[in-house]
Amino acid sequence: MALITSKEMFQKAYEGKYAVGAFNVNNMEIIQGIMIAAQQEKAPLILQVSAGARKYASPVYLRKLVEAAIEDTGMDLCLHLDHGEDFEICKQCVDDGFTSVMIDGSKHPFEENIALTKKVVDYAHERGVTVEAELGKLAGIEDNINVDEKDSTFTDPDEAVEFVERTGVDSLAIAIGTSHGAFKFKGEPRLDFERLEKISRLLPGFPLVLHGASTVPQEFVELNNQYGAQIPGAKGVPEEMLLESTQYGVCKINIDTDLRLAMTACIRQVFVEQPAVFDPRKYLGPAREAIAKMVAHKMKNVLNCSGKA
Ligand code: G3H
Ligand code: 13P
Ligand code: ZN
Repeated sequence: MALITSKEMFQKAYEGKYAVGAFNVNNMEIIQGIMIAAQQEKAPLILQVSAGARKYASPVYLRKLVEAAIEDTGMDLCLHLDHGEDFEICKQCVDDGFTSVMIDGSKHPFEENIALTKKVVDYAHERGVTVEAELGKLAGIEDNINVDEKDSTFTDPDEAVEFVERTGVDSLAIAIGTSHGAFKFKGEPRLDFERLEKISRLLPGFPLVLHGASTVPQEFVELNNQYGAQIPGAKGVPEEMLLESTQYGVCKINIDTDLRLAMTACIRQVFVEQPAVFDPRKYLGPAREAIAKMVAHKMKNVLNCSGKA
């Protein structure tokens, strides 16, 4: 039982044509809910921490909670920095014991993204830590997006090859139409599978990453709205599209929004249905259970990674 890098996880996922779930964690109940599911499903697991999560919970609390999760379950897992925006935060996380970091240089011009990514790769690899980078800009496909706009934001397959070769990065997040948050598509959900297929063909054996991959389960959207939330029109990536992406080298699927939706729906329900309750365990407990159930469903039916730990 230990913290492990994503290297072997991704090799196995690539060959087995499944994906490892990378779940964003911010507090104890979220971590515990995910661990219950991973244990039950015997699934490989990445727990990822954003800069915002580090600010909210403090780095030491999150690291100790993840260590507790490993000790409690006897499972191996990968602790990953999500969307590191500069060299400094990546270095901090490498020094702090993370086994994987993301350097997100996607907002920079191509050459700057390469230079920044390469600097992080050099530092991390020397210390046995794997690195994810991002090329292209995540954005939902608007109904009226034109080809030029798409070409300027989505990952260019030839650039992806050059980027991977010149940086030595271990995995690459690509933009093919997913986006962060609960409102991913205005019209019908669409991902650019042609582009994904081309990228994976040009980079055989290389693990790709999908950010913004929450499915936004309608049961939780409805439950939230039923109990006072105002998130009409929330829409995510259909499960079958995520499953399909695993056939084209997608080895890591990022999920945060779905955890937020499940947790908030349960808490809202308790607050409305049981107004006399003010013991946090009475609403955080059901929220943790809902996360466990939802994550287990994803591992089994969407990521196809049950039994692969
Ligand atoms: O991709 C972003 C993740 O959902 C993390 O969000 O920066 O609010 O923690 P956050
Ligand atoms: P969602 O907002 O779709 O959950 O994406 C999360 C993510 O990509 C974290 O990096
Ligand atoms: Zn992301």
